[in-house]
Amino acid sequence: MDEKTSMLTSAYQALQKSIIYYQGMPVGTLAACDRTVADLNYNHCFTRDFAVSAFVFLMEGKTEIVRNFLKLTLALQSHERQLDCFKPGEGLMPASFKIETKANKDLLIPDFGEHAIARVTPVDSCFWWLLLLRAYVKVTDDLELAHSAPFQRGIQRILDLCLRTRFDLFPTLLVPDGSFMVDRRMGVYGYPLEIQVLFYAALRTARELLLPEGESQKYIEAANERINHLAYHVRQYYWLDLKRLNEIYRYQVEEFGAGVANWLNIYPDSIPDWLTEWLPKKGGYLVGNLGPARMDFRFFSQGNLLAIVTSLASDAQSQAIMNLIEQCWTDLVAQMPMKICFPALEGRDWQLATGCDRKNLPWSYHNGGSWPVLLWLLAAAAQKVGKPELAERAIAIAQKQIREDDWPEYYDGRQGRLIGREARKFQTWTIAGYLAARALLEDPHNLDLISFDDEPVVLTCDLPAMSLEGYVEIRLTD
Ligand code: GLC
Repeated sequence: MDEKTSMLTSAYQALQKSIIYYQGMPVGTLAACDRTVADLNYNHCFTRDFAVSAFVFLMEGKTEIVRNFLKLTLALQSHERQLDCFKPGEGLMPASFKIETKANKDLLIPDFGEHAIARVTPVDSCFWWLLLLRAYVKVTDDLELAHSAPFQRGIQRILDLCLRTRFDLFPTLLVPDGSFMVDRRMGVYGYPLEIQVLFYAALRTARELLLPEGESQKYIEAANERINHLAYHVRQYYWLDLKRLNEIYRYQVEEFGAGVANWLNIYPDSIPDWLTEWLPKKGGYLVGNLGPARMDFRFFSQGNLLAIVTSLASDAQSQAIMNLIEQCWTDLVAQMPMKICFPALEGRDWQLATGCDRKNLPWSYHNGGSWPVLLWLLAAAAQKVGKPELAERAIAIAQKQIREDDWPEYYDGRQGRLIGREARKFQTWTIAGYLAARALLEDPHNLDLISFDDEPVVLTCDLPAMSLEGYVEIRLTD
């Protein structure tokens, strides 16, 4: 058996071992199968982790486990309108669930964040669920499932939850810290890129899968409008390249009212030193977060790669992001593809942003650690922009090492040469990420399962923040 075949075989075997069963049926995969350390919640099936396994199963034509997962998590989705702040809001999908067997009965125990370390909210779960449903329908043509009443209601509930008007006037989604893959405090509260991209892809999916009749019509219209505003906002204001950096560097500040250039009041002094040296001439990326007086200039890989794959980034921007990855290879890919974000927060920044979190020390875990699971999105993005050779290069770096090291969750160090200090071994999404990357390169059609076509942004009106006229008339005598 050659090296590649033996690697694939051992990965498949490991993925198989992680499958969990409910009432005798396969319903998900464990986060990790590492018997040498405490389980914590790594013996759960995480929605975001299972998504990677599910894409592998679907690429292999194994659809049953994905269908079961979709049905089971839909049943777990919070169904009631809540006024009680201690209950998950209607529409929320669990971060994870586990199965315990007591007196010969399988018990399902979901976690909506109420047990999670630091009690973080899984905002991304409902988005991954929608993306999986779309991929499942693509592989099976089983539109009946997506069109069934419970699934249609489930999709509407997700839209109810995230299209609700809130306290701010932005098309992006305002979320608390740690509500996605970075599920710890890392200064990623507000409007993190990864959530915005998943939100965008989820809206496009909902529009595709909702039946255009009755109640759903108004959901489709609302999704349509939001898709446009969101795409415009992210492409316009999250985008950073040398030209844009020059504009920000010379921004006027404290501008009031409509039609101003620096409408979020970003102070040029907030441009970090590393950036002006690091940003290549050819290339660009979407910044990590954007809100009032705040631009988080860190490069977040999952958000940028997903933006390419889902076409939230325009075609030209997608090319530029891949150019940047290629030119900053030694920082972003290094010895273990690929850094979750760049650069790491250090010193006082680390203390303040993480709350002195020792699991997130500089160049470790979420704070600049290297996560092999990202290989699959790197492969998908490289395929999408017509540069599969970049993914081949990354896989060649990772593959020997990750199997020798027993598929670690993450690596530490600027070059990603140390197995993460607290990394689990036999981490399922490391295994599935490798398999998905391989499958994407072997058969480019697999990209259809996760990718979206570029859709031109058609704005029917100006962004609200720009267009508010600023006056109202009331009659105090009424
Ligand atoms: C860690 C990761 C999270 C993942 C979980 C299970 O908490 O930060 O993204 O879902 O482990 O693998």
